[in-house]
Amino acid sequence: MSEILIEKLDSRVVLVKLNRPDALNALNIKTRQLLAKCFSALSEDKEVRCIVITGNASAFAAGADIKEMAGAGSIEMLLRNMNLLWKPVAECPKPIIAAVNGYALGGGCELAMHADIIIAGENAKFGQPEIRVGIMPGAGGTQRLTRAVGKYKAMKMLLTGEMISAREACDMGLVSEVVPDDEVLNRALQLAKKITLMPPLAVAQIKEVVLAGQDASLETALMLERKAFQLLFDSEDQKEGMGAFLEKRKPSYCGR
Ligand code: CAA
Repeated sequence: MSEILIEKLDSRVVLVKLNRPDALNALNIKTRQLLAKCFSALSEDKEVRCIVITGNASAFAAGADIKEMAGAGSIEMLLRNMNLLWKPVAECPKPIIAAVNGYALGGGCELAMHADIIIAGENAKFGQPEIRVGIMPGAGGTQRLTRAVGKYKAMKMLLTGEMISAREACDMGLVSEVVPDDEVLNRALQLAKKITLMPPLAVAQIKEVVLAGQDASLETALMLERKAFQLLFDSEDQKEGMGAFLEKRKPSYCGR
């Protein structure tokens, strides 16, 4: 069995499932290589409009695989170049929804934070417990988490390694929505379906501007927004969307 399972639910929504149940979906190198390959391919697949990533009932992912790291030295870790494997996920232009049940810890929490929307089950648990095994987050945990929840909530999680519940994560801005455990995947897929009905160029521009804008000055970010907004007025989908509104009918978007 492969470490990840990829299922095209219809031509527009793809479900990516982490599949190392015996290791609580710990992210070993093989899994990350497969994820990188998968996200590179999905980024280029013109049919795909939304990606849902999930684990199983016990774990989204319990972190990087500690068994593969325990004996490593710093030069070996440097040569592993893990950032190159995270890149295709981080730079994926399609919306990503993480459907989280169970543990999302360390690299698992970081993987969830690569998504654009996080749907969590009531019993999901989030955390950056790296400090408890003598290290610190290395895939965005100090940065994406701080941007999502602010310094004081992030520091508490990072410095104590304590897990937080899905409700706490939602209250602090780390999770988009909490639903009963057995509804997580359905809710994520429902949102994915909804996004596939939106104009793809607008979807892509929104994702690009939100991600690029959060690290720019407000003035620069607002300019990025303005330019993307203006650009969309040359799309067929803008004419279709506004035309359909005025004609009181449902729009049908073509992605041009
Ligand atoms: N790496 C490797 N194996 C892991 C793992 C991990 N991160 N997390 C769980 N497993 C394995 C366990 O070793 C165990 O396997 P065996 O049966 O072969 O011993 C199996 O999954 C089940 O785990 P537990 O028996 O520990 O299950 P539990 O229910 O008692 O505890 C848990 C669950 C609290 C999540 C506990 O497994 C745990 O603390 N895991 C480690 C969490 C962690 O520290 N994550 C951060 C890793 S470092 C990192 O992520 C850095 C980075 O990205 C750069």
